[in-house]
Amino acid sequence: KEIFEQPRALEDTLRGRVSLESGDLEAAEMGVSVEDARAVKRVILLACGTSYHAALHGRYLLESLARVPAVAELASEFRYRDPVVGEGDLVVAVSQSGETADTLAAAKEARERGARLLAVVNVQGSAIARASHGTLYTHAGPEIGVASTKCFTAQLAALTMLAIHLGRARGALTADKGRELLHEFVQLPHKMRDALAASRHVESVARAVMHTRDALFLGRGLSSAVALEGALKLKEISYVHAEGYAGGEMKHGPLALVDRDMPVVCLVPSDSTLEKMLSNVQEVRARDGQVIAVLDDEKAGAGLAAHTLKVPRTIEWFTPLLTIIPLQLLSYYVADLRGTDVDQPRNLAKTVTVE
Ligand code: G6P
Repeated sequence: KEIFEQPRALEDTLRGRVSLESGDLEAAEMGVSVEDARAVKRVILLACGTSYHAALHGRYLLESLARVPAVAELASEFRYRDPVVGEGDLVVAVSQSGETADTLAAAKEARERGARLLAVVNVQGSAIARASHGTLYTHAGPEIGVASTKCFTAQLAALTMLAIHLGRARGALTADKGRELLHEFVQLPHKMRDALAASRHVESVARAVMHTRDALFLGRGLSSAVALEGALKLKEISYVHAEGYAGGEMKHGPLALVDRDMPVVCLVPSDSTLEKMLSNVQEVRARDGQVIAVLDDEKAGAGLAAHTLKVPRTIEWFTPLLTIIPLQLLSYYVADLRGTDVDQPRNLAKTVTVE
């Protein structure tokens, strides 16, 4: 249900915030004024779990669209290592619940040391929102499933808005480029619906791989965070051991695991990573690995794949909002076919309020 609510969650997150005429976002809603944006020297994104994967995406967009140095950090590591943080830093705490203990503590610590604190949270009035100078809410609605889905794509959208806003305010993006990006951005809910319409096909792929013990997920560039998130979804709800890797790292370890019994989900959208990803696909095939290719163009590598999961085409920056959908569905169907509880996996909590 929540996977299928994503187009609506995205529409609600965008509503009233996008100005197609000016190619910018409504600054008041962003929690970061134009002056604040110009004063930023570095962005530090703090988060845990799925929200951390959204933070990795945010880092990428902030660097490429706003040309501002950005890092994404696990809140549980950041808070315990006496970090160098202070004035000139914009710290962005990303959290569905706004209550995760590590994210809250790390964010407060950064604020005490002089950073400006922005919350990207889904729950109104939550602890992280209250502790921050400004809040950019995701409007995904209540999320009940322990494994986050609709909040993840809403977080990707919110961080994309932040990157475009900082890019415009800092002069890294022209009004024309801003308009071009936002025109495509508002098309994404429709494209998400198209991606969701392929759910029966994803179920048939899930049937083919449901008995596997392990799975590997590979992606490069913006798709590397999608690979991590796809692997997390599968392990969380189906208890299949899954690892997400940046494609370039495959030769540094995971390739040793590939044999005929290993499904390897390869993210091969037709973007700047395509050529390199196709060589990853070939390397997997050469070891008899079963490739499941997530692609937006049938011609790209489909001949090498045992299964393909197709999504509509969009521009590079927005591709993860679509490519994650078949991976969420794949995890859902594998879990359902294996008879595990997709809403409440064993040993996990929706919100981790202890350290
Ligand atoms: C738990 C949940 C995850 C979530 C993570 C961070 O592990 O099971 O779905 O991504 O906490 O939660 P937050 O509310 O801070 O996004």
